[in-house]
Amino acid sequence: MASLDSDTPTAPSAEAHGGDPLYETVARRLLAQIDVGALRPGDRVPSVRELSRKTGYSITTALKAYEHLEALGAIESRPRSGYFVRLEPARAQALPQTLEIPPGPASLISADVISSVLETVSRPGLVPLAHASPAPELLPVAQLHHLTRRLLREDPDTAAGYLMPPGHAGLRQQIARRLAGHRCEVSPDDIVITTGSLEAINLCLRLLCCAGDTILMESPTYSGLLQVAEEMRLRVVELPNHPQHGIDPDDLRRAIRRHRVAAALFVQNFNNPTGSLLPEEAKRDIVQTLNGHGVPLIEDDIYGELGYACGRATPLKAYDEADMVLHCSSLSKTLSPGLRVGWVASHRWRRELIRHKFTLSTATNSLSQMIAGAFLESSAYDRHLRTLRATLARSVARFSEAVLRHFPPQTAVSRPQGGFVLWIELPRNVDGLELFQRAARERISVNPGVIFSANGSYQNYLRINCALPWSAEIEQAIATLGRIASWQARRA
Ligand SMILES: Cc1ncc(COP(=O)(O)O)c(C=O)c1O
Repeated sequence: MASLDSDTPTAPSAEAHGGDPLYETVARRLLAQIDVGALRPGDRVPSVRELSRKTGYSITTALKAYEHLEALGAIESRPRSGYFVRLEPARAQALPQTLEIPPGPASLISADVISSVLETVSRPGLVPLAHASPAPELLPVAQLHHLTRRLLREDPDTAAGYLMPPGHAGLRQQIARRLAGHRCEVSPDDIVITTGSLEAINLCLRLLCCAGDTILMESPTYSGLLQVAEEMRLRVVELPNHPQHGIDPDDLRRAIRRHRVAAALFVQNFNNPTGSLLPEEAKRDIVQTLNGHGVPLIEDDIYGELGYACGRATPLKAYDEADMVLHCSSLSKTLSPGLRVGWVASHRWRRELIRHKFTLSTATNSLSQMIAGAFLESSAYDRHLRTLRATLARSVARFSEAVLRHFPPQTAVSRPQGGFVLWIELPRNVDGLELFQRAARERISVNPGVIFSANGSYQNYLRINCALPWSAEIEQAIATLGRIASWQARRA
């Protein structure tokens, strides 16, 4: 059994851990031991009692740390034997491949293909594996309801009027406060509230680019961003996005040398669809490179709060010394997509962003802004995020296990470190678009990989949403997808 004695604290104090709950601190130490191999798959970890004695933390804290690690899929409890480092079958599994990207700007996959897929998967009554959207059961719906009633009672006039750009002052303060906790010094005055993250990105692209301009994006990337690029008639140069550690700074340097780039648009904290997380050193490198060449970076950080082990991932904005990063995000993946509250933070382009926001939609829904401001101000948001991260980690592990059990043997599944989607590579001869159509006929929605690439690549890939309570219906849907994929694989 490995020891936790070495550098474990004996005099616990809340301040010593930057305000993180103590159990997360204990869990992180254990994870670090697993990462460096001091604790190996199958090793028994100290009992709860031993952990409590060695670390000086209470039994409750030690137990919560183990429950947290179990939710993260790092350890497992065996009846009457204790806790063990998990022998995780998924770890031995190959990752989905990042495909080679032809040089030069992509001829964008038609937005019609994406629209027709979205239309199909939005039909009511389908098992919802397509939209990257947390199920209401995972969201604090009752608290939001309560807050809505209170705010309408206390301040009906503000709710009934326009809250003009830059938007609700209290909400902007809360966003700035949260960013400051992650090394982003952004003034509340430099934040513009938007209707979701997609509007924030639209504002930035309209500000920085004209038809015919070249932008850099990852491949694969979120289909909604590709739709905006096509609508604006932008030329997209794709950078390969590794399913664990994101884009390679050398690929970025090569692209900048080869093309005149108007802006970069990256989702590097728990990318959709791969779940990849850019390492800190690469974040610094990428921002410095873009800063050095005067290329603005639109950072879509919508999943940044949803790291399973690390908690909130550092925004790229934290490395932005030249004020060239436009940080975009929203509460759609954490609090409620229905609120439609997002933002963009930029000192340099603040005025232009406000002007564009006026012309695009005048203002974001006032009541939504008030609700978001009040929720972020209370401690309920952090409590909710802690529960949500653990739930998502568990759910993603469960979905992944089911996919590996039901899909054909050569299937590779991503191992996201945050967020809640799985990126699945199927055997080469399985057509994801056909699978999507056959699944829809069986009342299952799923996204074909091809909509995540400007080049129309990833034809034998799928993306599924795991932010759903596990049920027999979900298991059955995954089994059905696996059956169709196996049939397609055998057919050729
Ligand atoms: C990477 C990414 N960016 C933006 C969006 C859109 O976010 P919002 O609903 O806040 O506009 C999504 C939604 O799926 C997304 O996955």
